[in-house]
Amino acid sequence: MRIIKLDATNSTNTFLRQLSHTNKLDDYTVVVTNSQTQGRGQMGTVWENIPGKNLMFSVFKEVSFVAIDDHFYISIVVSLAINKALNTFGIPKTFIKWPNDILSDNKKICGVLIENVIKQGAIKETIIGIGLNVNQTSFDNLPRASSLKQITGLHYDKELLMLEIIKNLKDYFELLKQKSYNVLKTAYEANLFRKNKPSTFKNAEGSMFLGFIKGVSNSGKLQVLLEDNVVKEFDLKELELLY
Ligand code: BTN
Repeated sequence: MRIIKLDATNSTNTFLRQLSHTNKLDDYTVVVTNSQTQGRGQMGTVWENIPGKNLMFSVFKEVSFVAIDDHFYISIVVSLAINKALNTFGIPKTFIKWPNDILSDNKKICGVLIENVIKQGAIKETIIGIGLNVNQTSFDNLPRASSLKQITGLHYDKELLMLEIIKNLKDYFELLKQKSYNVLKTAYEANLFRKNKPSTFKNAEGSMFLGFIKGVSNSGKLQVLLEDNVVKEFDLKELELLY
């Protein structure tokens, strides 16, 4: 496994992607940095960082064994790998907030940005970007964010956390390669944030509605039981879970 350590970069995802254009990369080539100047989050958001405090890294993986319709299983693999690592490090119960945020104590401690390389309608490679809040101690403008240190009071070794997540990624990708879809989806749903709890959502038009999260479809849509007793599937642009 090749680990490229950078003191600073624009974004580890961008760096790794550009590297993959000019080099034939092995699976689990990793780029990790102390500081990002253009950290990117899901849906075009910005991923802020205080240099040195948190874990920011990206992993390259060849995934042509994943059919395009099963692409959400990459999200499942990544969420499970992080969740299990945090468990191993004794972090109080963590949940996966659909699609792939990791929460503890009802607050977001980790975000994931997966960028698949698609050629001729098939997924070839993926770049998995992980931002884990480790030793940061204040989140002034982000009331729903937290870090491992804020939750447990302990200081953590970022490299050990990263190596544990990568080890788990290898195990879960092996399960995906063996097409153990049920095992993966069941484990993901077992850790789903607010599953079977009455929850408030906002739809794309801004209206609020109540529902119970039941699970995810194979294509990664969130299945929500609505008040009329019907289960409806939503994609990321169609709803936001408020609480
Ligand atoms: C999100 O929750 O919106 C996803 C955040 C992902 C952040 C990580 S940090 C390492 C990698 N490089 C990036 O630019 N983004 C991801």
